[in-house]
Amino acid sequence: MFAKNLRCEYLVNPLGVDVIAPRLSWLLDPGDDDPNGLYQLAYQVIVASSPEQFNVAAADLWDSGKIESPETAQIAYGGKPLESRAWCYWKVKVWSNRGGESSFQECELAYWHMGLLSKQDWNTSWIGAPAGEPRTIQVTDTTQPSPVEIIASDPSPLLRRQFKLSGKPKRAMLYVTSLGEYEMRLNGNRVGDHLLAPEWTDFAKRLLYQAYDVTSNVKEGDNVLGAMLADGWYMGLLGPGDKVRQRYYGSNRRLLAKLIVEMTDGSSIEVATDDSWKVFENGPVQAADHFMGESFDARLEQAGWDTPDFDDSGWSQAIVDESVEVNLVAQKNEPVRVFDTLKPIAITEPSPGTYVFDLGQNMVGWCEIRLDGDAGQSITLRHGEMLDLEGNLYVDNLRLANQKDTFILDGSGSRWYHPHFTFHGFRYVETSGLTSAPALQDLVGKAFCSDMKLAGSFECSNTLLNKLWNNILWTQRDNMVSIPTDCPQRNERMGWMGDAQVFAQTAIFNLDMAAFYSKFTVDMRDEQPEEGMYPDFAPHPFPPFSNSFGPAWGDCGVIIPWRVYVAYGDTRLLEEHYDSMKRYIELIYDENPDYIWRTKGSNYGDWLNGDTLKAEGYPSKGGEMPKIAFATAFYALSAGLVAKMAAVLGKDDDARRFADLASNVRAAFNEKFVDQEDGKIEGDTQAGYAISLGFDLLPEDKQGLAMEHLVTVIEQYDGRLSTGFISTIQMMLELSKRGHNEQAYAFAESTRFPSWGYTIENGATTIWERWDGFVAGRGFQDKGMNSFNHYSIGAVGEWFYRIVLGINFDEHEPGMKHVILAPRPGGTLEWAKGSYDSIRGRISSSWMKTDNAITYTFEIPPNVRATIEVPAGPLNMVKINGMMPGDKLGIDLEQNEGNQIVFEANSGKFEIIIS
Ligand code: BGC
Repeated sequence: MFAKNLRCEYLVNPLGVDVIAPRLSWLLDPGDDDPNGLYQLAYQVIVASSPEQFNVAAADLWDSGKIESPETAQIAYGGKPLESRAWCYWKVKVWSNRGGESSFQECELAYWHMGLLSKQDWNTSWIGAPAGEPRTIQVTDTTQPSPVEIIASDPSPLLRRQFKLSGKPKRAMLYVTSLGEYEMRLNGNRVGDHLLAPEWTDFAKRLLYQAYDVTSNVKEGDNVLGAMLADGWYMGLLGPGDKVRQRYYGSNRRLLAKLIVEMTDGSSIEVATDDSWKVFENGPVQAADHFMGESFDARLEQAGWDTPDFDDSGWSQAIVDESVEVNLVAQKNEPVRVFDTLKPIAITEPSPGTYVFDLGQNMVGWCEIRLDGDAGQSITLRHGEMLDLEGNLYVDNLRLANQKDTFILDGSGSRWYHPHFTFHGFRYVETSGLTSAPALQDLVGKAFCSDMKLAGSFECSNTLLNKLWNNILWTQRDNMVSIPTDCPQRNERMGWMGDAQVFAQTAIFNLDMAAFYSKFTVDMRDEQPEEGMYPDFAPHPFPPFSNSFGPAWGDCGVIIPWRVYVAYGDTRLLEEHYDSMKRYIELIYDENPDYIWRTKGSNYGDWLNGDTLKAEGYPSKGGEMPKIAFATAFYALSAGLVAKMAAVLGKDDDARRFADLASNVRAAFNEKFVDQEDGKIEGDTQAGYAISLGFDLLPEDKQGLAMEHLVTVIEQYDGRLSTGFISTIQMMLELSKRGHNEQAYAFAESTRFPSWGYTIENGATTIWERWDGFVAGRGFQDKGMNSFNHYSIGAVGEWFYRIVLGINFDEHEPGMKHVILAPRPGGTLEWAKGSYDSIRGRISSSWMKTDNAITYTFEIPPNVRATIEVPAGPLNMVKINGMMPGDKLGIDLEQNEGNQIVFEANSGKFEIIIS
């Protein structure tokens, strides 16, 4: 057995770490050891400042010594204090329970590089171009009768600095950030592959900087460092409807950069932003905004501007801005990067000379297009999610976000164009201005998002469910460009927290969310005012503090940290965030000492519930759980979670206090909203029963009744769902766990309106915001709020993992020390298979039905224990790894009340045949 997949602060070989004691993790590879029942007894970490001759003697930064511990994650660096720009190379040796120990040679070499830890390390000026007078323009907002006025985005300035290296460079690191977005260039090449950096934070509180290793790009002699700047989240349009903001954080684009080149002779050279830089104000990017799109005029390109031979005598001197004050923090989450390139599947010409490319997938990013034409010819791309019934691009639901890129050609022949500082949510791209019909191969879609690693997989015998799983994954990626957004296309794209929390568990199963959610937890905390409420979205550029304190939305500030703790065992995040959560729950209590949450802030309730049958004239009594009951359910949930997190942190008084609070809120909920006789919950809605059961609000004697009522309300809805954003996943899980698994499968596999399957039958490639976003015969929903790329009801992804595959976290053993494997086959499915790459390695689960039997297969990585729980068969026969239960098997089988066969397992492969 040996250690592999070494990570520092959740990332592979991160550059620019500003955590003083970074946490390390690894996975265990059984190597030649028998993987069954294998675990780590001890480990040793060594860290050295140089990669050469890597062994214990060379470990000048840290030698942990042999630590008797099964831990493989959250191991805090405990060596010499780390200085700015320190390089830390590391390896791990592990001892297994088989008596063996790995060698350091077997372990891949990993590293991290420390960032600039103090203000003095930067010691650099902010530079930019002189500000022009703001100009206004009129743009279309599809929800307004006439054009609206916005401030025009100014051309992106180009900044350059030439410098000479009079010797051979050994290593070069670039540290950079900006107010607005940057693209850095070095000797004619783009630096790194990060897009839209620096990412969205509350810039008044923190600004992320990035570090790049540019060693291969510097050379002896003349070099040029260049930058292009644009508005980005800092200055561009932000937010929804009447709240739209522009230049919220500031009005000047500025650059801060420091290049440090270490020379082979031991000396080092710094090239930093200062007044020696030159600036050209009228760069080819003439306007760029996330909502509006980009205008690129190739005639204004300055050929070779980022290389040494360029004559910049006509450029002016960059201005130094002494007024900038920001809190610089290293970026600790995956950057935004291209993860897929999509080829169009069709081109149509709905009106003469207008062509529409279909990329086959609702995606987020931009297009690259091959264009050829006369100098000055202008080609426009408009991006939309849907086509109207006549086959034209449908843009009504984009509101103010025009999503339009314009390329003005320079007449130099055929070449590829793409924007630089914008992103669009789209499946269809409409071109205008082309003089001849384009071919499929003239355009590609570059899909990008925060580049988290895929963690989950799922496949089953029903292709509809496979498509649904895939749509959920796309929707996740599409909505994770720096922050978890509600939607990526219309002018909104906010970090709406109700959406984020309800989807968080699905998100964690699909992608490795540890670093991304760590950032988002800080984003949420940054927006928490002194009083203690959380906003409903973060970052929150809408003071005074509107949109705040909404049940299920604000509670995200408690729920996501809890999910991160359970999935990754991250207690440091809890420590850092605990006071914030405590203030939040105390404020709810202060304002609602009778334990019923009558919100003073917003209350969206179970947003966009599926009470869509009304429109069909169906006798509907409303799908919505009464809002005060909804709020009180979240009061109980959050108080209970804060109590658990207090206990984890050893804050026993708080743990008791908040546990009591949670139980008082539960009691008040029962008293006020639950009929003591028949157990009906106020409103008598699917959502009300689902949430009350899911949040464990009911005493035992009322749980069965609630389940019966839930089933009745489903019947009253003609077997269809009427749940909303928040309650749908709770209903799916509770049905499966409490004896109505078939009903849950029926919902999942249905194609009747409203259902996920209905959206798929209507062409969905991502999850829709509304169950009735488009209904045959009715057409599109209200254009003011109708996204086709909204992950909230995609939270059903959690059900795929927890119920179909049966992969469940154990909150008492966080970070997957223990997994509960409890698949529940059902519906029309003949088989299902999938996996989850936990922080302790891959957990796989599959099952297949054969005549009178079901075969389950599980794979559990070293160092992980499992409780396996599968439904007993009609013949009461069990075979595990080819053996019948009995003396040889060495496994204690139990059959519990729920007619499940249960046993404890260690790592290894298990094949269980139940008949
Ligand atoms: C967003 C939602 C969000 C909601 C709050 C909408 O405009 O798109 O997803 O959670 O507002 O009610």
